[in-house]
Amino acid sequence: MVKELTKKYKQYVIDLRREFHMYPEKSMNEVRTQKRIIEELEKAGIECRPIAGTGVIATIKGNKEGKTVALRADIDALDVNESNDVPYKSKNEGLMHACGHDGHAASLLGAAMILNEVKDEIKGSIKLLFQPGEEVAQGAKKMIEEGALENVDAIFGIHIWNDLECGKVSAEAGPRMASAGVFKIKVQGKGGHGSLPHQTIDPIVASSAIVLDLQSIISREISPLDSAVITVGKFQSGTRFNVIANDALIEGTTRCFSNEINDAFEERIRRVCENTASAYRATAELEYDQLVIPTINDEACSKIAEDAAEKLFGKEAVAKFPMTTGGEDFSFYMKDIPGAFAFVGSRNDEKVTYYPHHHPKFDIDEDCLEVSSSLYAQFALDYLN
Ligand code: NI
Repeated sequence: MVKELTKKYKQYVIDLRREFHMYPEKSMNEVRTQKRIIEELEKAGIECRPIAGTGVIATIKGNKEGKTVALRADIDALDVNESNDVPYKSKNEGLMHACGHDGHAASLLGAAMILNEVKDEIKGSIKLLFQPGEEVAQGAKKMIEEGALENVDAIFGIHIWNDLECGKVSAEAGPRMASAGVFKIKVQGKGGHGSLPHQTIDPIVASSAIVLDLQSIISREISPLDSAVITVGKFQSGTRFNVIANDALIEGTTRCFSNEINDAFEERIRRVCENTASAYRATAELEYDQLVIPTINDEACSKIAEDAAEKLFGKEAVAKFPMTTGGEDFSFYMKDIPGAFAFVGSRNDEKVTYYPHHHPKFDIDEDCLEVSSSLYAQFALDYLN
């Protein structure tokens, strides 16, 4: 039933994806996209309202009481100049849907149309979350703050994925995407003349030791069976060869796949930077910001997603795909309720859709939209019924 209805809405979803692609918008500023989503939902008589600034939340009620499942699509674009020569090329200079979120928004609208047609057979309700600002890791937090998960029992999300062949779906249980933390360490020393170091506190020497000691958190405090990353990407200090600087700045990022390790990062980094600085008579001050937490799929929800993919497209559609160190703010939804996040393959070498996400030549095989829209709908039906 979902399969037939997906065929009916196939062109509708492609057209919407192309329209969203032509008018990409900055994170948390998806004004036109929001307006169009509301128009399409209202046209179909689906109850909806704005949320989280430029997001949309919609509800489809079945005619029997039951659980509530949420389906989420992110809708924002990136600061990338598109270099594809396609009829639906970005009309907004400097902005591009280079991550496939245009396809997510269109697919969820397609799923909304499908589910709306079969709502008499649905036991429970479906909440559709069109989320702004995924790329800046603000949208999910804001949606949750404004009540997007109220009375929701489980959630399902997808990402169109160019590292996976079109037609395949990967929704394995367990960790799927990494956490991402950002840290800033301000190291305070005491400046002076390069020829008289004993009169100073050299923040460059202290900071160099901090950079090295941070790596011992990974090598000495985390089990070798787990994976984790601490990267210092920025180190700034000094003005001149014979001047000892007054202070230094270190900035970096953390990644891992477990909540336990992630929750301990801040305290460990603080301990190492403060104590190492103090060994050199300097002081260090840490600022730590959690962009996203690890995306970890619930076992039962993963099974529903994999079975849905198999039901729709056969056993060969269910793929095994390694987890990735990229981050997703979908992880915040799965902090308190069970859920699953699936990768929907969009790679097709013949159609030149093999460029990586965020690349100016990124494009998708639009045949994947049939997979994503039907998977959203099938997951909701199977979870509720
Ligand atoms: Ni993305």
